[in-house]
Amino acid sequence: KMNVIVVKDRLEGGQQGYQVFKEAYENGAKVYGLATGSTPVTTYDAIIKSDLDFSQMTSINLDEYVGLEPTHPQSYHYFMQTHLFDQKPFAQSYVPNGMNADAADEMARYDQIIADNPIDLQILGLGQNGHIGFNEPGTDPAMGTHKVTLTESTIKANARFFEHETDVPRYAYSMGIASIMKSHQILLEAYGEEKAAAVKAMIEGPVTTDVPASFLQNHNHVTVILDEASASLLT
Ligand code: F6R
Repeated sequence: KMNVIVVKDRLEGGQQGYQVFKEAYENGAKVYGLATGSTPVTTYDAIIKSDLDFSQMTSINLDEYVGLEPTHPQSYHYFMQTHLFDQKPFAQSYVPNGMNADAADEMARYDQIIADNPIDLQILGLGQNGHIGFNEPGTDPAMGTHKVTLTESTIKANARFFEHETDVPRYAYSMGIASIMKSHQILLEAYGEEKAAAVKAMIEGPVTTDVPASFLQNHNHVTVILDEASASLLT
């Protein structure tokens, strides 16, 4: 039921991803759910080069590290600013506030933002373990925005971006699987052979909390863009 598109590489994937944005835009989409990481970069680059105008639109990001200032180079605020918003400003851009020490307050605030601005199109990357947003395997799919304790492996993987391993954030705020599933349309991109097992489990495996992305099988409007390497295990 998922619409799966296989392309040669992430550059071509970015063109396809842009087409999905363009079509949603032309169909009147006003609220765009955005992601960070390496995956959406080619799509953002194609959007930047295009004449699509988001200056009357709203964006809502999936997640942010707890404790990083928006100006911190490793913060997701900073990532969005430099990879998209500087070149394509939105009227209103929401990212979870990692500096809000009151987790319950931040969770409620962000869920209200999503409720007030239902997401027309959400773009997602895919973790090697099947995560979406910061929803790691085992996450209760009914949860909305919540505070996540990062796994030791995620902390280690992120350590290279920080001066000391102790500088790496221990927590993040993330939209939940339930928040993501409320989006009217979802675009997931995944590139590289290291994503192949997660792609197979997401599309062909059972719907299970062991693979958070498998819940997307229950959504009625999902486009998946893969390169040949990430699609290599599909039957
Ligand atoms: C990013 C996010 C993550 C990434 C995923 C893939 O906002 O929520 O789920 O999409 O970890 O990361 P990359 O794209 O760097 O392979």
